[in-house]
Amino acid sequence: MSKLRVLSGMQPSGQLTLGNYIGALKNYVKLQHTHDCYFMVVDLHAITVPQDPAALREQSESVAAVYLAAGIDPNTATVFLQSSVKAHAELGWLLTTLTYMGELERMTQFKDKSEGKESVGAGLFTYPSLMAGDILLYNADLVPVGEDQRQHLELTRDLAHRFNTRFSETFKIPQGYIPEVGARIMSLDDASKKMSKSSPNAGSYIALLDAPDVIRKKISRAVTDSGREVKYDPQNKPEVSNLISIYTQCTDLSIAEVEAKYEGQGYGPFKKDLAEAVVGLLEPIQQRYREIRESGELHDILRSGRDRAEAAAEATIREVKQKMGFVQL
Ligand code: TYM
Repeated sequence: MSKLRVLSGMQPSGQLTLGNYIGALKNYVKLQHTHDCYFMVVDLHAITVPQDPAALREQSESVAAVYLAAGIDPNTATVFLQSSVKAHAELGWLLTTLTYMGELERMTQFKDKSEGKESVGAGLFTYPSLMAGDILLYNADLVPVGEDQRQHLELTRDLAHRFNTRFSETFKIPQGYIPEVGARIMSLDDASKKMSKSSPNAGSYIALLDAPDVIRKKISRAVTDSGREVKYDPQNKPEVSNLISIYTQCTDLSIAEVEAKYEGQGYGPFKKDLAEAVVGLLEPIQQRYREIRESGELHDILRSGRDRAEAAAEATIREVKQKMGFVQL
C-alpha cells in the first residue's frame, strides 16, 4: 500500500517560535518516517504583508534550515520553497475563482490581520485560496498544523468538494493533523493571544534560535497569576496552563506529573525547570542549525526538493486545467 501523503508549511515572516515547533514542526519530524511528506517554506504567503526583500530571503533560508535542524531528513521528506514551484501560484489563482467573497470575509485570521489597517493588500484576503492550492496540488491526505489553521483547512475541504462536484472527482478531501495539547501555545506576556513570530514584542515569544540566556530570561519574566499553585486550568489559570503545556511538550511528562512535581512549591522552581527543559530541547537544534548554515548545502537541498515537488505537482495542474476547459497544447 502506498504511504499517505502529508503537506504543510510555515511563513518566513519572522523567526520560528516554540509555538510553531510544538504546534506543527514536531509533528512534521514525526510523520516523515511513516508518510510521504512535503514540507515547504511559504514565501508567497509571507508577502501578503509587506516584507523587506533582504529579510525575506534570509528568513526563507533560515526557516528551511530550522526544518532540517529540527530533524527533517531531506532524503526522506521533500523540503522546498513554495515560490520555486510555479504551480502553487497557478492553482491558487484557479481556486480563487471558485472561492466566495463571503467565505474569505469570515476568516478570523484575515479579520485579525486587517483590523485597523488603512490599506490591506488583496493577497491577504485571498490568502486561504492560495493555501488550499498548496494542499490540493499534492493531493495531501494529512495536514499537520496548529489550531489557528483549522478554519483555512475547512475552506480547503470545501473547495476540494466544490471542484469535484463541478468538474468531476479530482481532489482528495484532506484532514487536519492537530495536536491535542500544544495546538495553541499562547504569548508569554498575554495568555489571551497566541504566541506569534510576527509580534513586535520579542518577550512574548521564544524563538527557536534564541540564546539559552535569552530563553531563561523570557521564561522568568513570563506572566503568571497572583496564586502559587501549578495547576492546569485554562479557564481560570490561562498563563500557568500555557506554561504547563509547553513543559509537557518539551519533556515526556504528562500534565498530571508536572502538577504533582511542583505541588506546594510555587512558581519559582517550576519556571526554572521549564527554562532548562526548553534550553535542553533547543540547544541541539541550534547547534545543527549552525552546521547546516555553514555547510553551504542548503541551496542544493532546496533545488532537489523543488524538482521532486514540481514532478508531483505537474500531474495535478494538468488534470485541473484540462477539466476546467483550458486548451491543452
Ligand atoms: P504560520 O507560518 O503562521 O505557522 C506555521 C505553523 O505553526 C502553527 N502555529 C502554532 N501552533 C501552536 N501554537 C502557536 N502559537 C502557533 N503559531 C503558529 C500554525 O498553526 C502552523 O501550522 N497559513 C499557514 C501556512 C501555510 C500552510 C499551507 C500550512 C500556507 N500553506 C499549507 C499548511 C498547509 C500559516 O500562516 O502558518
